[in-house]
Amino acid sequence: MKDLINKKILFIICGGVAAYKSLETIRLFKKNNAEIKTILTKSAKEFVTPLSVTSLSQGKVYDDLFNVENEMEMDHIALSRWADVIIIAPATANTISKLSQGSSEDLASTVVLASNKQVFLVPAMNVRMWEHKSTKDNIQKLSTYGYKLIGPTIGNMACGEFGEGKMSDPSEIFDEISNYLSNQVKNKRIKALVTAGPTNEYIDPVRFITNKSSGKQGYEIAKSLLKRGFDTTLISGPTNLHIDESINLIKVETAEEMFKETQKNLPTDIAIFSAAVADFKIDQKSQNKIKKQENFTINLEKNIDILNFVSNHNSMRPRLVIGFAAETENLDENATSKLSKKNCDWIIANDVSKKDSGFNSDYNEVTIFYKNSQNKKETLSLKKKSEISEEIVDRIVAQIN
Ligand code: PMT
Repeated sequence: MKDLINKKILFIICGGVAAYKSLETIRLFKKNNAEIKTILTKSAKEFVTPLSVTSLSQGKVYDDLFNVENEMEMDHIALSRWADVIIIAPATANTISKLSQGSSEDLASTVVLASNKQVFLVPAMNVRMWEHKSTKDNIQKLSTYGYKLIGPTIGNMACGEFGEGKMSDPSEIFDEISNYLSNQVKNKRIKALVTAGPTNEYIDPVRFITNKSSGKQGYEIAKSLLKRGFDTTLISGPTNLHIDESINLIKVETAEEMFKETQKNLPTDIAIFSAAVADFKIDQKSQNKIKKQENFTINLEKNIDILNFVSNHNSMRPRLVIGFAAETENLDENATSKLSKKNCDWIIANDVSKKDSGFNSDYNEVTIFYKNSQNKKETLSLKKKSEISEEIVDRIVAQIN
């Protein structure tokens, strides 16, 4: 028995024959002390009744986006914030299609669209519907949004056919979600620090040297860490990005400021350095705006290497130090050399000479180089930075727990 006391689950039941399995799943969660609220889609009510759901869940059942009483008590945004996790089971082809379009035409889709929590999809449908290209595309799209899949499994279907599309068993759904929730509890005690974005190195009060980093990769990593429950701090150079207020966001401009804030946030358990910190700063910054002139020379001096400082700290080295390597040539060689020179546990290398990935793109392709694993490396192929981040954080969770 797992103790899920104080864990809040929002269960969305869609209209499919497998809806009866959701009742058993709710019973399992309730037996383990979870708090449950349920949304029934219009067609779900053709398969299960609000009365049976509320009796089993001992929680409120919602079904209407425009219900004055419900909106007064807990509006649809509050409902999506209330949950620690959202389970959509059975997730029908129709709901999967609606979610992939970002639809908000009923309460279920609106709540999911407004949510910043982990969403688990438990698909259940006929094998041909599951194998249809449009369903595959929709699932692929939803996984880029960070939704996680449980199942479906292979077997005999209610319609008499055989194949993949059966809803996973309640015990399997229960095990996966309760593991996720217990990891979240464990992770709350684990501090993670992420650096992101560029730094600005001032020549005079109005001019500076910078680089093309948008901060997207680092922000996505911070978001993925937060979703898994980590106590996350994000130290960010100048960007136009927004992030969930549960993240401790520290905005800086220069490498020196980033270094000071990093020092202040030690000790930490995990440190991920995705920022494109300027290697150099201006030797003598002018206090006033420099006047136009024929020739002008600036001298640069080396900035402190923040990653190097943290990874070699004699008393506060994090348990896991992850550096990035932005390369335009000899990726493997340079990354391996940074792994050892900068004393990292992992280096995540990306080729920043490509147009469709790396700096200021929504996409990335990275290779992770691991220390202590006999030159082990792993490539995460070109995909959205949100997906790359989820995959990186999957590996962090596996390593740290
Ligand atoms: O921000 P985006 O537009 O999403 O782009 C993402 C990215 C390309 C910036 C990111 O994926 C990335 O590669 N970040 C590291 C960029 C970089 O500065 O790489 P580097 O090889 O020069 O530095 C190696 C490591 O040392 C990095 O972890 C860097 O954060 C760290 N470093 C470097 C210099 C310095 N003074 N202090 C540091 O901590």
